Amino acid sequence: MIGFFDSGFGGLTVLKSVVRELPEYDYLYLGDNARAPYGERSPEMVYECTIQAVDFLLKKGCLLVVVACNTVSSGALRRIQQEFLPGAYPDRKVLGVVRPSAEEIADRGCRTIGILATEGVVRSKIYTEELEKISPSVEIFYQACPLLVPIIEAGKQNEEHSDVVVSEYLGNLFARGGKIDTILLSCTHYPILYDAFRRHTPPHVKILTQGPIIARKLRDYLDRHPEIGERLSRGGTRSFFSTDSPEKFDRLASVFYGECIQSMPVTLGFSN
Ligand code: DGL
Repeated sequence: MIGFFDSGFGGLTVLKSVVRELPEYDYLYLGDNARAPYGERSPEMVYECTIQAVDFLLKKGCLLVVVACNTVSSGALRRIQQEFLPGAYPDRKVLGVVRPSAEEIADRGCRTIGILATEGVVRSKIYTEELEKISPSVEIFYQACPLLVPIIEAGKQNEEHSDVVVSEYLGNLFARGGKIDTILLSCTHYPILYDAFRRHTPPHVKILTQGPIIARKLRDYLDRHPEIGERLSRGGTRSFFSTDSPEKFDRLASVFYGECIQSMPVTLGFSN
């Protein structure tokens, strides 16, 4: 099984692209909706929550977990890979979304990129760190969008104020980064507001979403790592878990995933 984890609904935008690209595998999704948003939480708290979530997915039998969340990928992933996995699950892998997205920015030859993300991601400057290794000449402008995940988790993305909020964030970004040629929606929740982002972005500026990027990169990864790819089960099943009530999760999740979902509830506790 391949596990997917996000603070809430956002990772479903990535899973949707991945199952389209790689339909044969079994997938297990976990949204920590009861504790979302993670964006303004401390790195220590994000790490604690992530350990519990990843441990849940690995105990369920996932050989590979994709952390489909930029906030977790920037704040906790390295510690999970270096401190948690080697002792607890030495034969499993946990991958994030930041490195593959940075590679895509470099591969596309972007010169000036706008990174729209949560406070946690902007504070971490993780895209600067990753791009410095592979394409140091890319100029980066960050814009934190702290109101968006709460709006989306509440299912209010279609209300008029979400459009106003998006236009303000983009106004701030373009006031500083007039030469921006590409925007990366660096939060997996944001594609649900893609039309609003497009409306308030100059037509010559490309807008990238992470779902298609991660789907392609995951295929590459499995091709390059047959020792994992060949061990993954291929029953075509999809299972969904949320820390919030199944009724609420199922109603809103189907908008992100594009199909009806029947989730199961899970309680994640704090480890000592
Ligand atoms: N989908 C998460 C991300 O990509 C949102 C984090 C949050 O809960 O604030 O960053």
